[in-house]
Amino acid sequence: MRITMIGSGYVGLVSGACFSDFGHDVICVDKDAGKIAALEAGKMPIFEPGLDTLVAANVAAGRLKFTTDLKAAVAGADAVFIAVGTPSRRGDGHADLTYVFAATREIAEAIDGPVVIVTKSTVPVGTGDKVEEILKELAGDFPIAVVSNPEFLREGAAIGDFKRPDRIVIGTEDARAQQVMRDVYRPLYLNESPILFTGRRTSELIKYAANAFLATKITFINEIADLCEAVGANVQDVSRGIGLDNRIGSKFLHAGPGYGGSCFPKDTLALLKTAEDYETPVRIVEAVVQVNDTRKRAMGRKVITALGGDAKGKTVAVLGLTFKPNTDDMRDAPSLAIVQSLLDAGAAVRAHDPEGMEIAKGMMPEIAYCHDAYEAAAGADAVVIVTEWDIYRALDLKRLAGTMAAPVMVDLRNVYRASDVEKAGFAYSSIGR
Ligand SMILES: NC(=O)c1ccc[n+]([C@@H]2O[C@H](COP(=O)([O-])OP(=O)(O)OC[C@H]3O[C@@H](n4cnc5c(N)ncnc54)[C@H](O)[C@@H]3O)[C@@H](O)[C@H]2O)c1
Repeated sequence: MRITMIGSGYVGLVSGACFSDFGHDVICVDKDAGKIAALEAGKMPIFEPGLDTLVAANVAAGRLKFTTDLKAAVAGADAVFIAVGTPSRRGDGHADLTYVFAATREIAEAIDGPVVIVTKSTVPVGTGDKVEEILKELAGDFPIAVVSNPEFLREGAAIGDFKRPDRIVIGTEDARAQQVMRDVYRPLYLNESPILFTGRRTSELIKYAANAFLATKITFINEIADLCEAVGANVQDVSRGIGLDNRIGSKFLHAGPGYGGSCFPKDTLALLKTAEDYETPVRIVEAVVQVNDTRKRAMGRKVITALGGDAKGKTVAVLGLTFKPNTDDMRDAPSLAIVQSLLDAGAAVRAHDPEGMEIAKGMMPEIAYCHDAYEAAAGADAVVIVTEWDIYRALDLKRLAGTMAAPVMVDLRNVYRASDVEKAGFAYSSIGR
């Protein structure tokens, strides 16, 4: 099959590389010429484990190509995927569909035969209808079907998730489009990954419902963690105690500094806007958004409390900046709010992150960036673990304490056991324990 991927960011690039690995001919398009030039030179624009070798192998096999020329890439394609960004619209939280509709118009002008257009971007209910309208108006009389196929991959584990998905959701009632999508996903079909065919609007909503549910699960355990602190219980044991119940499940029950990243914050907001538009409030998600926003700021206060209530003139070492490990994605990372609250309180911040520092420098130019955890902690009054990268899991705690002005550790990911850290001389606080 010939597949064209419009947008070669996280989702477009990973999906394109995996489809080519299935044996399809894939061309990934991006309007960012620098990104395409880098990809052609074998450089990955994002950090994602295994992506460089997957891309290199499929480029070498002649199945994966990159271009900025959307028109040429769309001509003759069996399926054209839209995988452009859908960020929060400034000011109101609606999903900004500017890129989706701009890409649709460009695709419309390039269509030269029957084709299936697939929105892989996360888009609000009804977007597929609008995409179809634009195509009908601009693309002439070719048989065109518009399908919703939301993506559920997780950054940091994206290739595994794409190749072994829990499910594939395909929203279309068009028989020909269903067949094309079956062919696109045939290798996974043979692996017996569940494929759910549904209506387009339902498929669009499934993605938002999934992300809102996961955000709710995280927020739930975060509030239970606060309660644990108040009553003297241990949230990790509570998580295990409830997570072993199959009806609940153990994933997404790790208490922490609040969810962030490129999806949950914007997708929960966009779902609220859809609910508002249709006058059907989802109050539980409203609460989740509010609680999570408050929590990120509260984490800054937690650090200040650990510093003795005053951060003025103090230095804080922040370990981990990305919103989760194994990615360089800094979008809506909790570290941004935490660092800002420390700066506002008069502290100086020294940070380390294995992959996120290049991007972080542009977003937080006022802090110092260090080679490793020990350099960040040197002379600091507290060290804060914000992201649970593996390299922070087995720090030489005695060495770390020895470099600091005051050995104080705030572990926002519950990476350590209190007894181990305290043995190394630290005053230690964590989440919900
Ligand atoms: N990042 C994730 O983990 C994830 C997971 C599931 C779903 N999604 C959804 O997938 C979509 C894409 O997210 P992302 O993280 O890959 O975004 P991204 O910002 O990493 O990539 C989007 C890319 O699209 C390109 N682009 C925009 N308009 C274009 C056009 N007209 N022609 C060609 N290229 C164009 C941009 O230059 C950019 O490189 C979003 O809707 C997001 O919500 C993301």
